[in-house]
Amino acid sequence: MPLDPSTYVSPIYRPSLFNGKVVFCTGGNGTICSAQVRALVHLGANACIVGRNPDKTASAAADIATARPGSKVLGIGSVDVRDVSSVGAAVDRCIQELGGIDFLIAGAAGNFLSPLSTLSPNAFKSVMDIDVLGSFNALKPCLPHLLSSRSRSPSSGRVIFISATFHYTGHPLQSHVAAAKAAVDALAASVAIEYGPRGLTSNVIAPGPIADTEGMKRLGGLSPEEGGVARAVPLQRLGTVRDIADATVYLFSEAGAYVNGHVLVVDGGAWRTMGAADPQGAVYPGLFLEEKEEKAKL
Ligand code: HXC
Repeated sequence: MPLDPSTYVSPIYRPSLFNGKVVFCTGGNGTICSAQVRALVHLGANACIVGRNPDKTASAAADIATARPGSKVLGIGSVDVRDVSSVGAAVDRCIQELGGIDFLIAGAAGNFLSPLSTLSPNAFKSVMDIDVLGSFNALKPCLPHLLSSRSRSPSSGRVIFISATFHYTGHPLQSHVAAAKAAVDALAASVAIEYGPRGLTSNVIAPGPIADTEGMKRLGGLSPEEGGVARAVPLQRLGTVRDIADATVYLFSEAGAYVNGHVLVVDGGAWRTMGAADPQGAVYPGLFLEEKEEKAKL
């Protein structure tokens, strides 16, 4: 049963906005990235999503395809963004089956909550490899196709990296993620400057607390709304996947043509009031949850 489009993209965009465009997306079976791709498909694009889990990726692709009858959505599993050759093979298949790549969303990310005291060097490296090297590995094989797409359409050749806001203030139990996302922002800015003269745009979307994501469930505990997370956001609500999808549509549309090297924070103003204000887990009940449960038993 197709989702009601108004749940994942604003009805203000014209339905043919992305006709003939192809988006390649890493992490495309996740809650946020699949919503971004779903919005683009609804507005005319075809898509290739890649992920580590074959079943989850195939099922996400089939689900996204319901956003527009007749759309082509490839789901390629067993792709680990830490291995550039596995991304390269998926890009080759995307070119063969969909004919090009106009847009890239580099969205694959790894995350878990961990105090510095127990964070192992390998755990730190694991997140850096997925987020930073993985973003580079997503870009590398797509780059020639993004550049050649510019000869077909001046509104092609767009890249969005997915970041976060933890690194603006620092964040408890997220030192590994904050370090990685800071590097992703820097990578995106450098791509913007190096490839701007060839017509590419490279930007970042930095989501804040988005409802119904795995990360939010971990940070917020079982019920983020009850935990007061929404009350801590200046706009007094959690974000939705539609908020992120709408930002994506804007950046990939003609309206976003002159935006390059920008970090578009979509968080209701939350990083200004939350991040560093939460060293003891007052806002996010999921922080220090194990310690709280241990104390409650005493
Ligand atoms: C501490 C942990 C850990 C945990 C793994 N490690 N989980 N350390 N707390 N919860 C350590 C392991 O002990 C190991 O170190 C090292 O990390 C690598 O573990 P692997 O299991 O080999 O890693 P891998 O299979 O590559 O898994 C990567 C992962 C995993 C990042 C650890 O969580 C993952 O695949 N996540 C992908 C999905 C995901 O998290 N998506 C959420 C994105 S949401 P040692 O030293 O023992 O070898 C998002 C928004 C933010 O980013 C939300 C805020 C929470």
